[in-house]
Amino acid sequence: MTRIKTIGILTSGGDAPGMNAAIRAVTRAGICNGFNIKGIYRGFDGLINDDIKSFTTENVSGIIMQGGTILKTARSNDFTTEEGRRKAYENIVKEGIDALVVIGGNGSLTGARVFAQEYDLCCIGLPGTIDNDLYGTDSTIGYDTTMNTIVDCVDRIRDTAQSHERIFFVEVMGRDAGFLAQNSAIAAGAEAAIIPEDSTDVDQLARFMERGIRKSKKSCIVIVSESPKCGALYYADRVKKEFPDYDVRVSILGHLQRGGRPTAHDRILASRTGVGAIDAILQGQRNVMIGVRNNEIVYVPLLEAVRSDKPFDKKLITVLDELSI
Ligand code: F6P
Repeated sequence: MTRIKTIGILTSGGDAPGMNAAIRAVTRAGICNGFNIKGIYRGFDGLINDDIKSFTTENVSGIIMQGGTILKTARSNDFTTEEGRRKAYENIVKEGIDALVVIGGNGSLTGARVFAQEYDLCCIGLPGTIDNDLYGTDSTIGYDTTMNTIVDCVDRIRDTAQSHERIFFVEVMGRDAGFLAQNSAIAAGAEAAIIPEDSTDVDQLARFMERGIRKSKKSCIVIVSESPKCGALYYADRVKKEFPDYDVRVSILGHLQRGGRPTAHDRILASRTGVGAIDAILQGQRNVMIGVRNNEIVYVPLLEAVRSDKPFDKKLITVLDELSI
């Protein structure tokens, strides 16, 4: 029997489609199992500022299909300080919150882990990020929707690329991870992807120009993972200088990748992991992220989820190379 009575829930970091479905799942499964649920607004800042409201099932009605997060979100600088976390804990005590469910990516789950350790609190993480860079879960909430959004955009860009016989460099999000870039390149039938996981010894652009541009195709699409120095603009400039005969354009997809209605896959993942969070609390689990691996719910220690590198299947590079001839 758990002694936990009240569960607080928050979303933190970059919003991701499916976060609302996760809020709904935690709230409804929590209420079904006799817990009080409190919604914390604006991420960890809401804990620090006591921006907290009791939730009933009505608070989460009609949200499963909405992108963004009804709880709002933030990247809290204050929560990175001991003083900020102390204020947050004071409000946890004041609100009678016994366990915290944090929906977010790497930075947010790192914050949850530090907080849990400092104050001996039960924190459960749900993997909410479009980047898919959390270890221990096959997919993160939001990744599938963003992938589909990118593929839809690239299909459109291809129409104009082919009509003008141009090379397009399309920049996608992912922070330090190339899952979105590599897999959307495969799904959209792009000619190449430039990703951080493949950047060590070979110059990826040179390799692509050598292998790719001599193909019979007159237009092509290269998906580039965002990077402060070597994004799509960098590669486009290089091609313009090194191959002045090519007509080159850049499209940076930006934040449109984070919006929109979550796919069925993300809604199901959010619903399953949300219910999984409540099951974990009932079982007395602490400080784990709820993931899905090989279609099974798994509990991944928060430290492992944020510290371990999610394996990148290098075979995906061969898949793209071979299919883009
Ligand atoms: O982590 C999600 C993400 O969308 C990354 O892919 C991207 O680098 C970052 O957030 C952008 O953050 P912001 O919305 O704060 O500019």
